[in-house]
Amino acid sequence: MKKITKAVFPVAGLGTRFLPVTKATAKEMLPIVDKPLIQFAVEEAVDAGITDMVFVTGRTKRAIEDHFDKAYELETELELRGKQKLLDVAREVVPSHINCIYVRQPEALGLGHAVLCARPVVGHEPFAVVLADDLIDSSPGALKEMVDVYEREACSVIAVENVAREDTSSYGIVDCGDATGAERPIKAIVEKPEPAVAPSTLAVVGRYLLTEEIFGELDNVTRGAGGEIQLTDAIAALLGKQRALAYSFNGTRYDCGSKLGYLQANIQFGLRHPEVGDGLRAFLRNIENQS
Ligand code: UTP
Repeated sequence: MKKITKAVFPVAGLGTRFLPVTKATAKEMLPIVDKPLIQFAVEEAVDAGITDMVFVTGRTKRAIEDHFDKAYELETELELRGKQKLLDVAREVVPSHINCIYVRQPEALGLGHAVLCARPVVGHEPFAVVLADDLIDSSPGALKEMVDVYEREACSVIAVENVAREDTSSYGIVDCGDATGAERPIKAIVEKPEPAVAPSTLAVVGRYLLTEEIFGELDNVTRGAGGEIQLTDAIAALLGKQRALAYSFNGTRYDCGSKLGYLQANIQFGLRHPEVGDGLRAFLRNIENQS
């Protein structure tokens, strides 16, 4: 069994739900207090033992490359001013043993298409796909838990979470029949089903461990829900040939692709932040008393 050493971060979406901020910058650079979403995602991958980070970028995404690069001017300036702590923060964005690789998705044709763009870099290996706008608050990270399952079961592993039935049309939904427990064999998977026809309420969230055969399926899928090339449709095609497990991870997921989820994550992480936690708590109490 091949070890998982590569993670693909599709960051080429248009981020329309966050306009106007996403007009000229990447949704994945939005901060949770003081750290961008994409850095949380990369840290989760590092904690899972992954060493090669493959970013699928598009127009307006240059800030992501700059974020993981050396910042000469900033570092020199901080050094001159003797700001050692801030210098460490700027330098430790990514550990030195990590490789960052960038490929472009020329057009936002969908998540499946973005993953296919990473094929020349991933090659003939199993790999992770991490969507940075699904922020998962847990320790050890959700991806580490999934890699442990993969190393035991040697098959694709897809993170799922129970959602309200009225929300199924926002997610890929899996059918695991009567199976129970944290790891369930997937019988079928469907993208954005209406609540009335959804096979379950187990929704796919942004963490996948996939085998290289997914690329062959992505080559063949046609445009699906929303006119996009859907990763879900390629997984559905692969299910007839390979086993895949739905995995219910530990921890809390924040949908930071939506405004409400993003604000909730900022409040939760802000309350825990050593610099601003107490001040934020007092502020929230204050506005609650006023209402
Ligand atoms: P979303 O479904 O959240 O789409 O993509 P989006 O474009 O980012 O945001 P909205 O819905 O317009 O607000 C899920 C993930 O897949 C990536 C996105 O960057 C995000 O991480 N993606 C999506 C791509 O990389 N390319 C695409 O063509 C589509």
